[in-house]
Amino acid sequence: MVKQEMVYEGKAKQVFSTADENLVVIHFKDDATAGNGEKKGTIENKGIINNKITATLYEMLEKNGIRTHYKERLSDRDQLCEKLEIIPLEVIVRNVIAGSMARTLHIEEGTTPKTTIFEICYKNDECGDPLINDHHAVAMGLTTYEELEKVYATTAQINDLLKTTFDSEGITLVDFKIEFGRNSQGEVLLADEITPDTCRLWDKETGQKLDKDRFRRDLGGIEEAYIEILKRLGA
Ligand code: C5P
Repeated sequence: MVKQEMVYEGKAKQVFSTADENLVVIHFKDDATAGNGEKKGTIENKGIINNKITATLYEMLEKNGIRTHYKERLSDRDQLCEKLEIIPLEVIVRNVIAGSMARTLHIEEGTTPKTTIFEICYKNDECGDPLINDHHAVAMGLTTYEELEKVYATTAQINDLLKTTFDSEGITLVDFKIEFGRNSQGEVLLADEITPDTCRLWDKETGQKLDKDRFRRDLGGIEEAYIEILKRLGA
C-alpha cells in the first residue's frame, strides 16, 4: 500500500492516507517528547524499534480476540492500519504506582495498589491532557457511557494479556496508556501504539527501568533499554 498525503503529525508518529479510504499508513519517528512537549529530543532508531514492538504486541492481542487497527508491518518504520476516528481519551492502567500518581498523591513509587487502577485523561495538548472522570467525558460529548463500558472492559482484557506476556519475559508491566477509535462501522478498536514510550516496564530481577522514564529522567541507556524490550519479546 503506497503512502499518499500526510493527514496528521503527532509527537512520535505521522499518519498518511492511502488509495483505500479505510486504510492509513502510520510512520514511526525517532522524536521523543516529555512533560507535554517541554522536553524534546530524539532516540536513535526508536521508530524502527517501536514499529516492531507494536506489531508484535498487536498481533498477540489480535490472536487473543482483541480488535485492533493494526493490519501489517510494511517496512522498518511503516505499518498499515485501519482508519479510525480517535476517541480523544488516554486510557491509563496502573498495576504498580509510579509517575504522576506517585507524584500527585505522595505515594512511594513501586507501591502495589489494592486493585488495578483505570484512569482516563482528556487528550488535549492545550489543557495538558488532564485527568477527567467518566461524567466529564460524556458531558463533553467525547464518548458515551456505553462506549466507555466497552473501553474499560477491553482495557482490562488487554492489561491481562500484556501482563502475562511481559511477566514471562521477566518484566513487570507497571503502567501503560492506550487509545481507542471508531472505524467506519462505528466499532471500537484499539488504536495508536504499545511501546516503551507508552508503558513503564521494570526488569523483575534488577528493577532497571526499560522505558521512556530513562529519557524523562535523563538516566541514559535509552536505545539499549528499548532494544532489550524488543529482544525479550522476540520481535
Ligand atoms: O505520567 P503518568 O504516570 O500519568 O503515565 C502513566 C503511563 O501512561 C506511563 O506508562 C506513561 O508512559 C503513559 N503515558 C503516555 N502518554 C501520555 C501520558 C502517559 O504514554 N500522554
